[in-house]
Amino acid sequence: MIYDVVVIGSGPGGYVAAIRAAQLGLKTACIEKSKTLGGTCLNVGCIPSKVLLHDSEHSNDFAKMMQRKTKVVSGFTGGVEFLFKKNKVDWIQGAAKLKSPTSISVNGQNIEAKNIILATGSEPVSLPFLPFDEKKILSSTGALALSSVPKKMLVVGAGVIGVELGSVYKRLGSEVVFIEFLDRICPAFDLSLSKALLKSLTNQGMVFHLSHKVMKADGTTLTVQGPTGESQFTGDVILVAVGRKPYSSGLGLEEIGIQKDAKGFVQIDGSLRTTQPNIFAIGDLVDGPMLAHKASEEGIAAAEIIAGHHPVINYIAIPNVAYTHPEVAAVGLTEEEIKTRGLSYKVSQFPFKANSRARCIDDEEGFIKILAETNSRRILGVHMIGPNASELIAEATIAIQLKATADQLADTCFAHPTLSEALKEASLGLFRAPIHI
Ligand code: NAI
Repeated sequence: MIYDVVVIGSGPGGYVAAIRAAQLGLKTACIEKSKTLGGTCLNVGCIPSKVLLHDSEHSNDFAKMMQRKTKVVSGFTGGVEFLFKKNKVDWIQGAAKLKSPTSISVNGQNIEAKNIILATGSEPVSLPFLPFDEKKILSSTGALALSSVPKKMLVVGAGVIGVELGSVYKRLGSEVVFIEFLDRICPAFDLSLSKALLKSLTNQGMVFHLSHKVMKADGTTLTVQGPTGESQFTGDVILVAVGRKPYSSGLGLEEIGIQKDAKGFVQIDGSLRTTQPNIFAIGDLVDGPMLAHKASEEGIAAAEIIAGHHPVINYIAIPNVAYTHPEVAAVGLTEEEIKTRGLSYKVSQFPFKANSRARCIDDEEGFIKILAETNSRRILGVHMIGPNASELIAEATIAIQLKATADQLADTCFAHPTLSEALKEASLGLFRAPIHI
């Protein structure tokens, strides 16, 4: 049999691509080497970390939350298996290697495909002198599977993974110390959010050493170079969260002429096609934010392009969230990016302490910052830190997706009392004036 589409990888990029392709009437298979479907997101990423982030706010029973994490994860991975059956997607379990642009070897057999979608995702970056053993030197995967709460955790890299997992273990009683190379945390966010989050996490007792570079390691002791000289830090465990890299080797890509860039990202054109036109690449394997929902959008788009449709992905309207407390969420351009582009803009910020609902729920830390272009008044970016920011960002995402102006957002009626009113107030502050401050 010749498949219309074979997807390699079953993360939120790959499994969504496979289901969409099948919905469009294409004979589809998905090759996944792990025993369960769902990739990093479902098995060792977004989903288990959010269970631990939720449960650690309410309880200190580590064994119980680990059990619930396993149950939630297996529910979802089984759910993807069910969706594959329902949509008649064949799951081939095994490691795929491309033999030609239309032939893939898996488990010693050749599978023929008219189109291929590469969705193999990414893997944690390790430091050469700190290889992961997942017992003492942990990647995010190991940090999600510890058998007990460590007394002291060193976290190398204060990006999203570092601050989320650091928060989990701080809440469970660990001493958590960050060593971050840059002079700020979470560099993907607007600087105002990075600063506010740093302040908040510091108040929660986490310790940050910014502008510090790890030079070498001896067991779980790190030698670190900071602005005032060299120092040593020892932890019971070390979480290394210095980024992720595309999982693009060992797939036979080079052998069939698929180009990668210097960092290993597969090169694609505006329609997600690699240098082999019937082979597409999506998600963490290609340039752009390494986010599950970005991968899913690209998966849907790749399947639709194969089916002859003309989908458009609006990359400016991809939200980004850190599930700390307070939550951090953003969509559109940061103020730094707007300045770099030389755009003329106005900025307004509204604090949650002036929002009635935030005060009712006793969670008033944070603010919403909104930026709009001066002439067109179009919203360019929305950045927030505060209660339910992960959900509130959807309203801002719709506004950016629909190319809304500050006035359109300010003229929208939001229910009272809700956190959303802070978004209306922030947009009123751009070209008019907020009411409650
Ligand atoms: P990241 O890129 O967010 O942060 C890595 C941090 O490590 C940066 O602040 C960087 O300056 C620092 N760093 C790099 N090398 C270093 C070194 N040698 N010593 C000290 N610090 C160093 O990467 P992270 O947190 O590993 O996450 C990987 C990817 O996964 C990101 O793209 C992120 O967006 C995604 N992710 C998304 C989540 C979400 O949407 N909530 C949750 C977790 C991960």
